[in-house]
Amino acid sequence: MTFSKTISDSISYSKSVESRLKVQHLPQYKPKAASSAGSDVVKGLTHIPKYLSPHYLYDDRGSELFEEICELPEYYVTRTETSILKDCAEEIAHITGACELIELGSGSSTKTRILLDAYQKLGLPLHYLPIDVSAGILEATARQLLVDYPALKVHALAGTYEQALGELERSELPTRMIGFIGSSLGNLTPEQCEDFLSHITAGLQLGEYFLLGVDLQKPKHILEAAYNDSAGVTADFNLNVLDHLNRRFEGNFDRTKFEHWTFYNETKHQIESYLRSLETQTAELSALNLKLNFEKGETIHTEISRKFDINGVQELLKTKGLVTQKVWTDENEWFALILSKLT
Ligand code: AVI
Repeated sequence: MTFSKTISDSISYSKSVESRLKVQHLPQYKPKAASSAGSDVVKGLTHIPKYLSPHYLYDDRGSELFEEICELPEYYVTRTETSILKDCAEEIAHITGACELIELGSGSSTKTRILLDAYQKLGLPLHYLPIDVSAGILEATARQLLVDYPALKVHALAGTYEQALGELERSELPTRMIGFIGSSLGNLTPEQCEDFLSHITAGLQLGEYFLLGVDLQKPKHILEAAYNDSAGVTADFNLNVLDHLNRRFEGNFDRTKFEHWTFYNETKHQIESYLRSLETQTAELSALNLKLNFEKGETIHTEISRKFDINGVQELLKTKGLVTQKVWTDENEWFALILSKLT
């Protein structure tokens, strides 16, 4: 009796989830062909000085380590943004009214729940469009959200931001808001930033909203502690790039012969992270036919994390027609959420 009830409950439950879920795998999004995959690695590692795209930080292990970083006492970023969002989510919902929520790089959508709760509390419809290259996490997260929010509709888009923003259909609701939180804007160079914001505005109609989370400039010692934590998780995250390359491209990097090196560049207002060779050595990526020599102390640049000033970001947004509606920050002014509108 209990058994059959459980089965019928779960059938009707999953039916209602299915009817509220659409997963779209963007046609252009195909993993790169084996011959072209890794050309960016060859380019970066044969460049003087050596560099890699920060994308190589995020294999499965890298994503797990990033989740751990977000919990570290020194990494104030996630905690601070979450607390600002908790304070301002209802106000955001009031400003936008009924609104389709689009999230870039949604991952496990943890912070999104704060926004969904606010829209739900105001009795507004809940339409969520998460965009992520990682189709598995995207779908699993969408299903869990649909179970937890019975009135929610999800249209998940598996692909890159650029592809997904170009594919958006007109919103079924009066407006839409694209959210890019977590300060991932800081991992883009100024040129990449410009390009990224052009894709944002291409995905919006006039009068629609963009919610951006940015990490702000602050004393060097606080920033350097956040990117060189005492438990060594960030070091592990950075060194994992070498394991990732070994696996993807039949490599023989020995991670014990490198160290994590990071510092705040006060002129450029950015944390710069490197892998630094502890000795003179060679390494090989057989699948790319690439043999590499390292001097002792030679580096591979793996990531920048830019730190912004609130006025500068607003100016930048304005050049793209995105006019600030409201800025929220914490009491230390360590992090800011900026709601802008395309005008
Ligand atoms: C994802 N991104 C915003 C993080 C940051 O703070 O730049 C990635 C990170 N790198 C080291 N720690 C965290």
